[in-house]
Amino acid sequence: MGESGTEPRKTLSIRDNRTGKDYEVDIHEGDVVRAMDLRQIKVNDDDFGMMSYDPAFTNTASTRSTITEIDGGNGILRYRGYPIEQLAEKSSFLEVAYLLLRGELPSQDELDDFVHNVTYHTYAHENIIKLLRGFRYDAHTMGIVISSVAALSTFYPEAKEIHDPENRWIQIIRLVAKMPTLAAFAYRHHRGLPYVYPENELSYTANFLNMLFRIGVRDYRPNPVLERALDVLFILHADHEQNCSATTMRTIGSSHADPYSALAGGMAALYGPLHGGANEAVLRMLTEIGSKDNIPDFMESVRNGDRRLMGFGHRVYKAYDPRASIIKKTAHEVFEVTGNNPLLEIALELEKIALQEEYFVKRNLYPNVDFYSGLIYQAMGFPVEMFPVLFAIPRTVGWLAQWEEMLEDKEQKIARPRQVYVGEGERDYIPVDRRG
Ligand code: ACO
Repeated sequence: MGESGTEPRKTLSIRDNRTGKDYEVDIHEGDVVRAMDLRQIKVNDDDFGMMSYDPAFTNTASTRSTITEIDGGNGILRYRGYPIEQLAEKSSFLEVAYLLLRGELPSQDELDDFVHNVTYHTYAHENIIKLLRGFRYDAHTMGIVISSVAALSTFYPEAKEIHDPENRWIQIIRLVAKMPTLAAFAYRHHRGLPYVYPENELSYTANFLNMLFRIGVRDYRPNPVLERALDVLFILHADHEQNCSATTMRTIGSSHADPYSALAGGMAALYGPLHGGANEAVLRMLTEIGSKDNIPDFMESVRNGDRRLMGFGHRVYKAYDPRASIIKKTAHEVFEVTGNNPLLEIALELEKIALQEEYFVKRNLYPNVDFYSGLIYQAMGFPVEMFPVLFAIPRTVGWLAQWEEMLEDKEQKIARPRQVYVGEGERDYIPVDRRG
């Protein structure tokens, strides 16, 4: 409170000691100052004005958003206000997809309509199969799916009409519907198996499992526990606000590229081992550790800075990732059906040690969403190459919600950061025969 009980002024006073000048800039909702307000701070009239410097955007908000709220210090994640724990327990992936994309939970009619539309757009053009056949037998499935999503833009040239909301909605439905088909085709290609076409009477995840795993039988019905576990995993992965891949999707979309091209870019960002590739890296790490006896040596190399404990740490969460707690519970349900994954013991021991050790405690390193998800995927029969793909299918919804929000935000323009140039000043060209 200010003097005599008045509200404090929501401004920031800045003194430029180079000039002795004082400035006052507004503090906006979310305790932010606008970087452009710094531009008025100049040494003289010819000066460009001050900028903020923030490599990797660790302290810069690039947008105002109403989609996903994370309170990293308290381990809170909410989609459109609904806690992730409630959605994972009570909702379905397609209902959550509608919520993220449209802003509200659907009525029964809206949900039926959405599920019907998604179900009836699952087929991909046959030429996509020709494209897939061009990949080597050992091509990584993520590379195949990224390429086929990008290729979809050539089948739907009208998707360029990004300012038409109805047109956007058709592309959104297509992308949500076709991602499992592309992912399953990539898997079957990887395995050298014939492609299985979508079946409309199955649920989103049952249809996906059918396209992946049906061999030699006419009626394949996945175990309902596994079908639901995958649905829960999809809910948990559906969005995570301005992460590396969502930011990539927004950045590409800001140049008004079509959603298929933008989404292929977002997916490429997800592929890296520091982002969606982490669950694959966790599994490789656990396999390499191999036994509980090797954990002390491994942890020593992490403490020495030679290795990272994959599946630990997060840019935003400085507490237990709420998704990791739900996944841990889901893992136990899945293992009841599939039998225990022997790597689980190593994972549990690593977590136990890390939660007590000073190195991890001091740096607020807790398990993230990827620490246990790979164990479930492996138990369900997925090869590690499919792990990032399994992340990309539900995250398609988040990317599309973020992309639409960006397009409708009047404040957004083509994304284009500044730089601080620290290279050579002007110098004259020297012909090659005269260079030392
Ligand atoms: N193992 C060991 N040390 C770690 C780890 C880890 N997994 N993560 C961070 N640290 C250490 C860093 O070495 C650094 O230590 P220092 O201060 O002594 O230099 C400190 O913790 C801070 O780490 P940063 O890299 O600055 O943290 P940042 O926020 O940039 O990175 C990230 C976050 C990339 C997720 C990081 O924690 C990491 O590499 N984790 C492993 C990969 C992973 O699991 N990624 C999945 C993230 S969730 C997702 O994308 C779905």
